[in-house]
Amino acid sequence: MRHLLSIDDLDRAAIEQLCDRAESFAEVADRPIKKVPALRGRTVLNLFYESSTRTRSSFELAAKRLSADVVNFAASGSSVEKGESLRDTVQTLAAHRPHAIVIRTPWAGASKLITRWTDAAIVNAGDGQNEHPTQALLDVYTLRARLGSLDGLNVWIVGDVRHSRVARSLVLALQTMGATVTLSGPPTLVPQELAVLGCQVRYTLDGLADADVVYTLRMQHERMQQAYVPSLREYAATYQIDARRLGRHQLLMHPGPVNRGVELAGDVVDGPQSLILDQVRAGVLVRMAVLYEVLASRGGPTAAPDPPAESSSGPAPSGGSDSFAPTSELHSA
Ligand code: NCD
Repeated sequence: MRHLLSIDDLDRAAIEQLCDRAESFAEVADRPIKKVPALRGRTVLNLFYESSTRTRSSFELAAKRLSADVVNFAASGSSVEKGESLRDTVQTLAAHRPHAIVIRTPWAGASKLITRWTDAAIVNAGDGQNEHPTQALLDVYTLRARLGSLDGLNVWIVGDVRHSRVARSLVLALQTMGATVTLSGPPTLVPQELAVLGCQVRYTLDGLADADVVYTLRMQHERMQQAYVPSLREYAATYQIDARRLGRHQLLMHPGPVNRGVELAGDVVDGPQSLILDQVRAGVLVRMAVLYEVLASRGGPTAAPDPPAESSSGPAPSGGSDSFAPTSELHSA
C-alpha cells in the first residue's frame, strides 16, 4: 500500500489484513513501555488544517508507539495564517523529508493532490466532506473485535449524512465487509443520491429496531451554508437516539465529537451498549497498522519535491513487514 487516500482503494482482503495487523499491535498498549522499533528512523508529519481531538492524538500516538519521529503541524499558528498556500506549505514541510504525511483539510481531494508534490506516503485523515478512511477502518475493527464478523450485519447510520466524510467511507467499508447499511435522517441531510451506494434511505426511525448497530453522526455546522433543520430541538425530538429508541440488543457507535442532547442522549453515550471509547482505542491500533503498511514497503527517506531526487538507502523499518515482532523487539525500542 503506497498511500491511503480512500476506502475504495481497499478490498476486503486488504481491510482484513489491516485489522489483523492492528490486532497484533493491541498488546503493545498493555505493556509498561508502549513502543516497538518498527518505524525507527522514519519521520511522520501530521498536517492538520482542521480541528481534531481523536484523529490527531491517535495518529501521533500511533507513530510514537512505532518509534517514528513525529512533527505536528496545525494550520492555526502557522504561516498559513500569513497566506501561504497548501502547495507551498506541503513543499516547505516536505523539505524536511518526512516518510509519511498524515493530512486533514476542509478540501475534498486535497490528500490526493499532495501526492504530486512530495514522495512521502500520504494518509488521508479527512478531506472535507469526501472521505475519512482511517475512521472507517477503526469502526470496522471495533465491530470485528466485538462481533467476530460483519457479514449480514444490519447497520443504521443516523444523522447528518450529507456533510459527513465519515459516512462516505464507512458505507463503503461496511458493504465491503458484508454488512447492509441504512441511512436515516431528515431529507435535507440524507441525500437520496446516496442510495446509489447500495444503501436504504429512510427519513424516519421506523425500522430502527431491526438494526444490530446504530451509528450516529454529529450535525456538522461548520460545513453548512444554510439551515438544514428548523431547530436542534426539533431535530432531537425526531432523530435523537436515547434509551427509549436504542433497543437492548443494539450496539451504539459515534465517531466523536458527540453533541450530547442533540444526536445522542447523554445516558446512552455512557451506557453499556456504547462502543464510543472502544472506537477511540481502536483508532491508535488501526493507525499504527496503516502507518506500518505505507512505510514498511518503502525504502529509505523520501526525496525532496520538485524535482524529486533519487531515493536514497536510509534505514528500513526493522525487519520489514514479514518479520515484525512487537513482543520480542519491544525492549530494544
Ligand atoms: C469526524 C471528522 O472530523 O470527520 N470526527 C473524527 O474524525 N473522529 C466527525 C465529526 O467531526 O463529526
